[in-house]
Amino acid sequence: MALIALAADKGSPGVTTAAVALAAVWPRRVLLAETDPAGGDLVYRSTAAHGGPLNPNTGLLSIAATARRGLVPDQLWDHVQPLSGGLEVLVGLGVAEQAAGLASLWPTLGHSFASLADSPHAPADVVADCGRISGDTPAVELFPHAALVLLLSRTEPEALARVRDRAAHLSTRLHGGARGAAALATPLIGVVLIADPAGSGKLVNQVNDMLVHAQTGARVVGTLADDPAGADMLAGRKRGRLDKSLLVRSARKVAADLNQQYGAAWAVSAQAQQAHQAQQAHQAQQTHQAQQAHQAQYQQAHQSQPAAQQGRSQPPYQPQQGHAGADR
Ligand SMILES: Nc1ncnc2c1ncn2[C@@H]1O[C@H](COP(=O)(O)OP(=O)(O)OP(=O)(O)O)[C@@H](O)[C@H]1O
Ligand SMILES: [Mg+2]
Repeated sequence: MALIALAADKGSPGVTTAAVALAAVWPRRVLLAETDPAGGDLVYRSTAAHGGPLNPNTGLLSIAATARRGLVPDQLWDHVQPLSGGLEVLVGLGVAEQAAGLASLWPTLGHSFASLADSPHAPADVVADCGRISGDTPAVELFPHAALVLLLSRTEPEALARVRDRAAHLSTRLHGGARGAAALATPLIGVVLIADPAGSGKLVNQVNDMLVHAQTGARVVGTLADDPAGADMLAGRKRGRLDKSLLVRSARKVAADLNQQYGAAWAVSAQAQQAHQAQQAHQAQQTHQAQQAHQAQYQQAHQSQPAAQQGRSQPPYQPQQGHAGADR
């Protein structure tokens, strides 16, 4: 289980729509996190499970107010609201200016999102809407914690050129250099095209060739339907059979493909992380025991010393009298 971060280079290709669609059909428990530093949209688009509006103050804002001293992954659930339909969401910021309040919290958030998969109480994957990543958006600090970074792109030539360049840039930033082949490094960088899935086979091959040629280490991992009616239904702007829409059907395929291809690897890396944490806990326990034994020996050896000296640790070096200020 894992953190899946969604983003785009420029424009509004449909990152939020894709994040909602993928989370809505995700095959396991999932938390949809609105981590776009420019602000979230769900408050305006979605209804809470109780039938009223979502509370804009419960989500990233409430985390920013409470997580200064760290964030245990399970604490995330305290800031989550269910949408009507049941999808659990972490509501994003109201306006971009509020991102200043999260300044140093992005890596903490990334770590908590990635670790939520290993929660003994309520494990879940996290789908994070990171918005546009041009410039130096802080949301990229989530990426090193992600199993998968999905770059959304429309299919106009300039959009494809941009997603290629963004993938190359991210690969250098996250993997330390350009890559000739995909899947060599984590997080995996995947491109999701927004197009007509039925006719996209040839285009996917062309885009993949372009990504390989540019040594981006990325590849196309799926196509979401360019479906304005489906996007409107998902945003609550239109009524209809959302589950039958091209958008949701294509999202189901992308989610299933991703989980089929990488689900096992995510489970293994979660297990490896758990084993690593258990090993660290064991080492910490051993170190603690060794320290206690050492302390006991020390106290035994110094029992004969005057009480005033007992327990006072000696600095490794003390300047002799007169050295300090000798040049004055
Ligand atoms: N798959 C899609 N097919 C057709 N229209 C879509 C699709 N996804 C999104 N749209 C439409 O594109 C517009 C922008 O969508 P969305 O808010 O999801 O984009 P975004 O990339 O998150 O934008 P922003 O950067 O402003 O957050 C909306 O009008 C939405 O209905
Ligand atoms: Mg958005």
